[in-house]
Amino acid sequence: MASKRGSWRTRFGFYLLAVGSACGLGNLWRFPYVVGENGGGAFVLLYVFMALAVGLPFLIAELCLGKATQQSVLMATQKLAQRSGCRAFVWAGRFSVLLSLVVFSYYAVISGWVLHFLIRFLVETFNFETAVASAGSLDLLMKNGFLQWALASVHVLLTIIVVAKGVQEGLEKWISYMMPLFLSLVLILVIRSTSLPSAPEVLRFLFYPDFSKLTFSSLIHAIGHIFFTLSVGFGTMVTFGSYMKDEDHVPTAGFRVTLVDTGISLVAVMLVFPIAFQSSNVPLTDPALLFETLPRFFTDFRGGAFFGLIFFVCLYMAALNASIGLMETIVSNLVDTRKKKLERDRASWIAGAVALSLAILPAFSSSLFRGVHLRGRGLMELMDSVLINWILPIIALGLSVSINLGMSEKEKEAHFVARDRFVSYSMYPHWIWALKWLAPGLIVIGMLLQVIGQF
Ligand code: PFF
Repeated sequence: MASKRGSWRTRFGFYLLAVGSACGLGNLWRFPYVVGENGGGAFVLLYVFMALAVGLPFLIAELCLGKATQQSVLMATQKLAQRSGCRAFVWAGRFSVLLSLVVFSYYAVISGWVLHFLIRFLVETFNFETAVASAGSLDLLMKNGFLQWALASVHVLLTIIVVAKGVQEGLEKWISYMMPLFLSLVLILVIRSTSLPSAPEVLRFLFYPDFSKLTFSSLIHAIGHIFFTLSVGFGTMVTFGSYMKDEDHVPTAGFRVTLVDTGISLVAVMLVFPIAFQSSNVPLTDPALLFETLPRFFTDFRGGAFFGLIFFVCLYMAALNASIGLMETIVSNLVDTRKKKLERDRASWIAGAVALSLAILPAFSSSLFRGVHLRGRGLMELMDSVLINWILPIIALGLSVSINLGMSEKEKEAHFVARDRFVSYSMYPHWIWALKWLAPGLIVIGMLLQVIGQF
């Protein structure tokens, strides 16, 4: 059955896709400003703890469900519902796919911002213009909703083309080329940024925990971001799990993805904050933080435009990888539920068209819809905050409860415990405890604190 679904030619292929889907704009664009919003060091500590206590158990659960059922999330949750007689499980699956679609729409807009800077640096590199233009072009972009939407359309189109080509040819190839290049470049840039004079102050801000800076919402901000960055709660990891081979070990895969993803997020803050601290007028809490800081950084040294170009090409590839994960989830669900009567490429076009229509809201949030705001937050920020801090944790919780109650003990154990591996055998009860009690408990506490924080 696995071969019919197109399982990975190599195990490395699975990792590339899972890590590629996890590591995207969430790490480089979103994590730094969420850390800024929540006051630095204490939040980073909370975040790392939550990644292991909440993110990892849920990630493993989703992979297990996919591997056990060999289906994407809609059909998989339907199976769980049939077995247990609980219809609500089906809704957990449906909402997760719907969420993928809505998140894809605003993810496409941010990916469009990346494209914008990519094009600016391309022009500067080859025209030898002064790179100052890039540094100031964010404002122009923000005010031009049409341009943002047009760039988002280009991004959606590219995503459709890759996904419509199918699992193996479409995805594996792209990812294997870009990831190593990107990681090396980011590391080189971090070395440069941490040699700026602001570095000691930044290290104190990031790694010295001042718990008084945490707010009532910090716990759920950490949890919401972990789900977003690990692609948990979207059904994506169920789809990827369904492509795993029998001999693949789910907990090891989950642990590696969590480790790499968290590592990259930490590297991202080390890259962005020294630059932000250096130019004192950049607000650390602004969603445009990455785009305020990095282009400036590249203008400050000779040949910077060229580095800027490579950086934004790689960042764009990361955004494309992650978008492929989102689109793949939507498409595989559409195809599976229509019992393969719907072609992959038709499904991709349908999903792309819906996402693009929704993208009008975030794209025009600083122009046409600038009147829509709440407590100083514009439409785009509101969408991000409501989706990631409120809706995503609830859906992820719903999915994990469905998996925990819908899969039998035997089935869960069979997919968690690897043959001949004592470690996974001894870890199994801990995973079940985290899935049943620890993670749901932390989510509920986080939500309650967030509600209290609203008053
Ligand atoms: N994890 C991605 C990121 O950090 O940018 C975002 C994402 C990709 C979320 C794929 C959900 C998903 F299915």
